[in-house]
Amino acid sequence: MTGPSATFGFRDVDASEKAGLVRGVFDRVARRYDLMNDLMSVGVHRLWKDAVAARLNPQPGETIVDCAGGTGDMARRFAKMARRAQERRGGEDAKIFVVDYNAEMIMAGREKGSAPEMAWAVGDAQALPLPDGSADAYVISFGIRNVTDIPAALREARRVLKPGGRFLCLEFSRPVTEALRAAYDAYSFRVIPEIGARVANDRESYQYLVESIRRFPDQKAFGAMIGEAGFSQVGWTNFSGGVAAMHTGRAI
Ligand SMILES: C[S@@+](CC[C@H](N)C(=O)[O-])C[C@H]1O[C@@H](n2cnc3c(N)ncnc32)[C@H](O)[C@@H]1O
Repeated sequence: MTGPSATFGFRDVDASEKAGLVRGVFDRVARRYDLMNDLMSVGVHRLWKDAVAARLNPQPGETIVDCAGGTGDMARRFAKMARRAQERRGGEDAKIFVVDYNAEMIMAGREKGSAPEMAWAVGDAQALPLPDGSADAYVISFGIRNVTDIPAALREARRVLKPGGRFLCLEFSRPVTEALRAAYDAYSFRVIPEIGARVANDRESYQYLVESIRRFPDQKAFGAMIGEAGFSQVGWTNFSGGVAAMHTGRAI
């Protein structure tokens, strides 16, 4: 390696290579992405996503960024909730930007269906196509661990948020007990690549997904990174014993 390094699953690669490698993974999994999520998590990812949407509590007139939004699974939830609130209390339409650097994921999402509040853009979490201080909330769900320079993506979240804007991140994390860690390790390393091989004919991509989860910082270390990027009131909520965690903060 000649320049700075980045993790790609258990491998260390040149930082300049990581984005292309990750793009390859999501190009390959795009068409089966939603089905695979349901199979791998036995539907539990929906409950985690619902909990994040409830915490976000999208309001009419708000601008919300769904960064690394993929097929728009989160954005659709936000649009529905903002519309319900609008029907009750009135107000402007919410604006929900799905930004993802993988056009295949966005195409799969658009085919699945959009909402009038949603706009889709191909863009990088490290250089969002949005002005400074323009968003009321920023959400990144199962996206941050794929980004090459995580501190840069967090600073970018801070840049696009208005002062006081809400930051929410849903990501796989570290199970809180040794027993759960062992069971989860066995499941993820034995079962997930096997499901990937059988359902999507792609063991390698799912092996990467599992390895990238292991290399992601734990709850406390990631919370510290969020604070360093310019957020206050940083905290987290564990889901399913820490298999996933929702980190939250407010832009300073
Ligand atoms: C596991 S998917 C999550 C999709 C969606 N947020 C969800 O929860 O279902 C990860 C997404 O992150 C996107 N991604 C990875 N690196 C990115 C980056 N640097 N900028 C924007 N999107 C990125 C991938 O293209 C992929 O769509």
